[in-house]
Amino acid sequence: MVKGLLHTHYLVVTLFLLIYVIKTILLISDKKELLDTFSKKFRVSEMIISVLFLLTGIYLSTQLPFGGKYDYLFWIKLVMVAVAIPLAIVGFKKHNKILAALSLLLITGTYGVAEVYHKRKGIPKQGNEMLSDAKALYENNCSSCHGNNGKLGMSGSKDLSKTQLDLAGINQIITQGKGMMPAASQLSPEQAQAVAEYVNTSIKGQ
Ligand code: HEC
Repeated sequence: MVKGLLHTHYLVVTLFLLIYVIKTILLISDKKELLDTFSKKFRVSEMIISVLFLLTGIYLSTQLPFGGKYDYLFWIKLVMVAVAIPLAIVGFKKHNKILAALSLLLITGTYGVAEVYHKRKGIPKQGNEMLSDAKALYENNCSSCHGNNGKLGMSGSKDLSKTQLDLAGINQIITQGKGMMPAASQLSPEQAQAVAEYVNTSIKGQ
């Protein structure tokens, strides 16, 4: 859900930026008639996009973790958007190039800040949460024989860091077992898949 919204948010922001860039270019190159036609034509789409932009942004900001190390980036982003939008409205209305350009600069800057913010936060957060869940699942269900790093080799188990199996193969062994290894029937299919992904990405080849 949050991930889907995040994609929607990115898409809407990109469209929003695109409209902005076109309008600013038209304004700066003195194509005022074209600008007015463009603005009229896309007025409704622009309104829908802006509303979606704000709604998804607001919703996402309530979902993201606060109190982290880089939260000031989030506030910078918010302030930049809050300043840029009125600047743009006035800029386009009065055909003021400087205001429009400034606003575009702020909005694109916000986009950059958002990127940095997400990279540092490791968003999508769900991905991270799932990874630590998978790690815990692995440690609770598999480490007794395979060890935390996969190399323990208890009761004849294989060294998982050297496995040649792919993701599907690992999943199959987890759900069906093999030889001395019991099937992990205590795990749901989603959990089994998460553990398989964990083995495939964090243990295999280590
Ligand atoms: C009771 C001990 C035991 C537990 C618990 C256990 N395994 Fe195993 N595992 C084995 C043994 C033994 C083998 C070797 C099976 C064979 O090849 O006959 C094995 C093999 C594997 C293989 C195949 C490796 C290869 O390259 O052939 C994978 C993958 C694997 N285990 C993953 C897991 C995961 C993930 C878990 C936790 C959900 C788990 N195992 C829990 C004992 C265990």
